[in-house]
Amino acid sequence: MKTQFNFSSANELYTIVSPLNSIIITDKNIARNYEALMQPFRKIVLDDGEQEKSFETLSYILEQLIKLEADRTTTIIGVGGGVITDISGFAASIYMRGIPFGFVPTTLLAQVDASIGGKNGVNFNHFKNLIGVIRQPDFILVDTHFLSTLSETDYHSGLAEIVKYGMIYDKELFHLVQTNADKILNKDNELLETIIRKCTEIKNNIVERDEFETNERKILNFGHTIGHAIERIENIPHGFAVSIGMVAASRLSEIHAGLSPTVTSQLTDLLMKFSLPVVSKTDPDIILSNLKMDKKRRGEVIDFILLKDIAQPVIMSIKPAEILSFQKS
Ligand SMILES: NC(=O)c1ccc[n+]([C@@H]2O[C@H](COP(=O)([O-])OP(=O)(O)OC[C@H]3O[C@@H](n4cnc5c(N)ncnc54)[C@H](O)[C@@H]3O)[C@@H](O)[C@H]2O)c1
Repeated sequence: MKTQFNFSSANELYTIVSPLNSIIITDKNIARNYEALMQPFRKIVLDDGEQEKSFETLSYILEQLIKLEADRTTTIIGVGGGVITDISGFAASIYMRGIPFGFVPTTLLAQVDASIGGKNGVNFNHFKNLIGVIRQPDFILVDTHFLSTLSETDYHSGLAEIVKYGMIYDKELFHLVQTNADKILNKDNELLETIIRKCTEIKNNIVERDEFETNERKILNFGHTIGHAIERIENIPHGFAVSIGMVAASRLSEIHAGLSPTVTSQLTDLLMKFSLPVVSKTDPDIILSNLKMDKKRRGEVIDFILLKDIAQPVIMSIKPAEILSFQKS
């Protein structure tokens, strides 16, 4: 099923879904900042943070949906960052075997990445996104004005995913971001909208061609294999962990895919310009034991997304020990 994208003011939400027959799932920060927007809708308000992406919270949402008498005609609207879009999409996908849902992503990361592509789920036993489904939202409404209330940390976290799209898919986008880094840091709205549209197009096109990640979609995991392990261990924002993961993947690409070290330097400089971390504080052995539980592991090897050059990704099977030796070098 195709997702309908709307780039407009969130105040238009009621023109896409009727407040009478829909329920917003959001978190307390967004509910507080955007009270007027949500006023006509029934709401389920969660605490914020990654720890909410759990079975306990899912169970709470399902109880609330029963209390609010949600039925198969009810539309769930996840209004929030990636935590809210991931869990509300999952709740909508399993309640009554699946009811309609859409997203209003309110973080930069959710606008360019988490809300798109239909991966919905929760964490389980400290493993990220271990339990979930792939089911596409009916609509996504992107409004860049949400970014004005976002914390600097969360804004910078989203920039990492934008850099990723340039690295894996679009040299021009990488150079646009590189040459306009200051404008981006100053949240130039026109430029941001151009970049966000570009990123949503890239992800949406890839997902349309390979929804269930049998091939091309895997390239979106650039930086995420090591990134997810670090995110679990260090409890840092998703984009921060992906930033460290991309630099690691870029170094591995020099060894295994012939990437020029100049590209790694360009990547590292851009990430540092965006105040993103580029090295992990964690002992490589601890990262390794976490990598063994990665969803991309197949027996003794892990599928890694490496680069031959900017916008030239390759999928390579690498043994965890090789990753370890690289981390120690
Ligand atoms: N499904 C996918 O394809 C996919 C892709 C990438 C990331 N993710 C997931 O997304 C999650 C991270 O998402 P995130 O970075 O958006 O973090 P988040 O959802 O935890 O939001 C970060 C913080 O920003 C606050 N917030 C959100 N919007 C705000 C606004 N407009 N103004 C003020 N505060 C606001 C939230 O309350 C929260 O405290 C992770 O769980 C990650 O696994 C999923």
